[in-house]
Amino acid sequence: MNFTGAHILSINQFQREDVDRVFAVADQMEPYALRKRVTRVLEGAILGNMFFEASTRTRVSFGSAFNLLGGEVRETAGFENSALVKGESLQDTARVLSGFSDVICMRHPEAGSVADFATASRVPVINGGDGANEHPTQALLDLYTIRKELADKGRSVDGMSIAMIGDLRHGRTVHSLGKLLSLYDEVHVVLISPAELALPESIIESMRSAGVEVTVSHEMTQSLADVDIVYSTRIQEERFSTKQEADLYRGKFRLNQAIYTEYCQPNTVIMHPLPRDSRADANELDIDLDDNPNLAIFRQTDNGLLVRMALFALVLDVADKVDEFSHEVHWYNSRQRPIKS
Ligand code: NCD
Repeated sequence: MNFTGAHILSINQFQREDVDRVFAVADQMEPYALRKRVTRVLEGAILGNMFFEASTRTRVSFGSAFNLLGGEVRETAGFENSALVKGESLQDTARVLSGFSDVICMRHPEAGSVADFATASRVPVINGGDGANEHPTQALLDLYTIRKELADKGRSVDGMSIAMIGDLRHGRTVHSLGKLLSLYDEVHVVLISPAELALPESIIESMRSAGVEVTVSHEMTQSLADVDIVYSTRIQEERFSTKQEADLYRGKFRLNQAIYTEYCQPNTVIMHPLPRDSRADANELDIDLDDNPNLAIFRQTDNGLLVRMALFALVLDVADKVDEFSHEVHWYNSRQRPIKS
């Protein structure tokens, strides 16, 4: 894949060597994310960060990643604050905003909307989540995290097993991650969800035809026994027609330390794209897991910064110039430690 000037819309665009390239550049970003060094390589560049759906970490992570490369961020958040409420088409918005920006990140509640937007954009567009469809940068940061966590245990992505739990029907992170894992060998995926919230059949079929071993289960505990990674997800209540319908599934699969101790292998890595629903009726990942060293959820968010910096550097073709435009930091910071929670 030629990254320069490319839109990043779907995991379908990636081959294994493209993922390796993103991860190699992400590794190089660590001194900048840890504020050991500062780079101005994107000085003068503007990111248009457009989020038409709720977001904390993805929006701020994209913005911070761009800032860490020396660029500026202009942001719009929420339909109510945009001209889309006045009936403007996504294409017109793209024509306008791509005149102001050098790259655009966008999140929107409709599947396919970010790709539609990209057709009229004069600058690269990165998908920050389009409805229940895809969330490619989350899948990349998830896999980057999986790779690091397994490497610490002397393992690799080839041959690994992962349980994906929760709302697999609407969860765009698992859609993208399932596709991404299809690029690796001898991967076993255990899909744990209520029958109504199963991963879409088309994704299961494409995973199986790529050689992934897929097991479907509707119960959580026994199914966790042999996996390396537990990847929990939130019931995507905003994708249901009523809150009552979403409530039927809330709290069905809760992981806590007692269940972990009884059913999981001792070093099973615990992941979640976040936000975890910590309300009493959901409690997807109990806070009693917070002291478990295998809880990788905040390492995921830290890694997200590295992966998004890498994508910006590749798309704007500065990956090999980041160090040239860098210098030491001059302020005290407490972040000069490895990325671990
Ligand atoms: C996810 C999303 O928006 O799809 N969040 C995120 O970007 N990390 C998952 C979710 O909202 O449940």
